[in-house]
Amino acid sequence: MRELEYYRGREQTYIKHFFLERYLEKVAYHIGWVAKDFVYVDGFSGPWRAEHESYDDTSFMIAIQALRRVASGLAERDRRPRMRCLFIERDPKAYDELRRAVEGISDIEVRTLCGSFEEQIPKIVDFVDNKFALTFVDPTGWTGFGLRNIQPLLQGRGEVIINFMFDHINRFLGSQTGTESSFDDLFGGPGWESAVAPGPRREQRIIDFYASRLKELGNFKHVTSTRVLKPTSDRSYFYLVYGTNHPKGILEFREVERKAVSEQERVRPDAKQTARVERTGQPELFVASDTDEDVSFHEEQEQRRDEAVARLRSLLASRKSIPYEDARSQVLEIPLVWEGVFKDIVHEFADRGEAKLLNMEPRQRRVGKGVTIAATQ
Ligand SMILES: C[S@@+](CC[C@H](N)C(=O)[O-])C[C@H]1O[C@@H](n2cnc3c(N)ncnc32)[C@H](O)[C@@H]1O
Repeated sequence: MRELEYYRGREQTYIKHFFLERYLEKVAYHIGWVAKDFVYVDGFSGPWRAEHESYDDTSFMIAIQALRRVASGLAERDRRPRMRCLFIERDPKAYDELRRAVEGISDIEVRTLCGSFEEQIPKIVDFVDNKFALTFVDPTGWTGFGLRNIQPLLQGRGEVIINFMFDHINRFLGSQTGTESSFDDLFGGPGWESAVAPGPRREQRIIDFYASRLKELGNFKHVTSTRVLKPTSDRSYFYLVYGTNHPKGILEFREVERKAVSEQERVRPDAKQTARVERTGQPELFVASDTDEDVSFHEEQEQRRDEAVARLRSLLASRKSIPYEDARSQVLEIPLVWEGVFKDIVHEFADRGEAKLLNMEPRQRRVGKGVTIAATQ
């Protein structure tokens, strides 16, 4: 993908592409190591506001380049899975650009479809052919990916990352006139009204509700999300909502989140400073990253850590003892709770006498695979 300079003024897209590139590389490598096929589906491909003629700042080209790197890494270890991509774009002009941009690519199998994502679901399911597929859904609004309409694809063997455009959706949730049926589509049926009602934690209620519907209708074992902020304020832009059946998927998703968060924290002070200078016309003396105005992320991480403590406590109350990896995949569903944070929490439980760690090796200092966490009362 292109460096940050190419994304000035749309830093949220940089973070989205950063996330997609890293997660796709991870999952393609893991699947390519054990399976004969890896499939990637981009339901809303674009190009969309691409600024570079090589399309290096589009999700479809970023994916092709990532899959090439994975294929060559795997080939060095004598593994040659079939890498297949399917790109869907509804707008005929953008589709034409997409088709021209990928024609001639032969090292990765690339197919394109012109039409709406929902209407193409039967063809997409045929293309996936019951293999593992990562599907990326990156719409411009809240329509075109109704959970019930895309259910046959979600219930396949793969994973999904959906860009839930919170900022956009939120504006329309406030003025519901005429949009009720499209919100039924978005959330996979009625029942969303109380989640969107005014009151405390409304944003969290909306995301949790969407995640629970995705889990139910997609038949996923784990669903989680990560929040991408507006570049120049501390408000949410969108959430990447993720569904998987694989405990390892949750672990990798959180690991990519850890890197993306640090990238986001690096990028936003500059974007804020640029916006301030543009607004006031006054150049500033210090570089933006010298100041520490962004405390919101740390506050949020503290709250998430408290949630993780509560979840581990309730797991121990209901199961009495639980293998480390099982507990990890449940607790890491909580955003911003990374594996290192979870390990610290487990050790605090043990230090307080709230849990015992069974099957630790004699010289093992940190909890990990093979250990069982047991309640002490
Ligand atoms: C946000 S852009 C995608 C950007 C792209 N994922 C990227 O990061 O470079 C959404 C794209 O989906 C297309 N689109 C809109 N509605 C669609 C639908 N129902 N089905 C398929 N494509 C659609 C738009 O024309 C636009 O090109």
